Amino acid sequence: MLHVIHPTAAAEWAAHLRQTLPAMSVSTDADDIDPAQVEFLVCWKPQAGALKRFTRLRAIFATGAGIDHLLSRPDLPPAVPVIRLTDAGMAQQMLEYVLFGVLYFQRDMDAYARQQADGCWQALPPRSAADTRISVLGLGAIGGVVAGGLARQGFRTRGWSRGPHILEGVECLHGIDTLNGLLSETDVLVNILPNTPETAGLLDATRLSALPTAAVVINAGRGEQLDLAALLALLDADKLRGALLDVFPHEPLPPDSPLWRHPKVRVTPHIAAATLIGESAQQIADKLAALQRGEPVSGLVDRTRAY
Ligand code: NDP
Ligand code: OXD
Repeated sequence: MLHVIHPTAAAEWAAHLRQTLPAMSVSTDADDIDPAQVEFLVCWKPQAGALKRFTRLRAIFATGAGIDHLLSRPDLPPAVPVIRLTDAGMAQQMLEYVLFGVLYFQRDMDAYARQQADGCWQALPPRSAADTRISVLGLGAIGGVVAGGLARQGFRTRGWSRGPHILEGVECLHGIDTLNGLLSETDVLVNILPNTPETAGLLDATRLSALPTAAVVINAGRGEQLDLAALLALLDADKLRGALLDVFPHEPLPPDSPLWRHPKVRVTPHIAAATLIGESAQQIADKLAALQRGEPVSGLVDRTRAY
């Protein structure tokens, strides 16, 4: 039996999973089932304590790419495999989001919006893609596609990860020792890292200060990774040019956050790459079938690395 827990779309997930896994009994109502019969959970942000009821789980499938919210839970069974989505249509969306952010600043749309408000007709000196240095933190299922896509558009693209990668058109660096040097040669910083004990707080005041004057920050990884107070101080001191932020330590972003109305910040409500239910349900069905055949499954979370 497979049980679905989802705050907003449990019925839709269940409908897709019933289609893709016709032999599986799929439930959404916890009151109607015997939790001890549930072998597979498909879930996103279950309520606190909800996982404790399922005593015979064989796997937990997350309906997203980031699993920080699951791994941090005290009720997560220690030995049950956690499997996340791998791309499932998110990488292309993320590439579009990052391209928007890069072009917005590289083509001076922030400055032209201010000029328009003042009725000012004034061309600014152009800056080519080849002269725009972009650094993508995270070269996984999503970040790798983003870095490759930016490189194909002619941007000077570097990528950063934990271990070595080879990506056409992208200069790939890895390891914490290379990060400060990379930041000091970055015009647009793009964060697509998973939130782990190693990456939480990574973009702190010191590292943000290593960015050249007038650099831009795009954060689509997790809010916990970016020091917002330090970012605001650098923006207000005209050390940084702007930021496009999709993720925040507290979501929804609280109404009194200064980010909402900051002239150099664009805020989006965690939409950079949405889960596409149809494509993702198919991926989960394929992974579940592979698991049952005893084959390797992509997206199996390594709990020691926390991603
Ligand atoms: P992956 O697990 O496929 O990739 C993670 C990447 O981060 C890998 O390249 C990995 O390095 C790198 N990494 C992890 N830890 C470190 C570290 N300590 N130092 C350097 N690099 C590190 O994840 P995805 O690409 O699928 O997703 C990434 C994240 O994007 C998600 O965890 C989530 O937080 C965020 N996300 C945001 C969305 C949004 O709408 N805003 C939507 C979807 C995801 P290596 O390759 O060497 O292992
Ligand atoms: C995800 C997300 O991790 O939506 O999938 O952020």
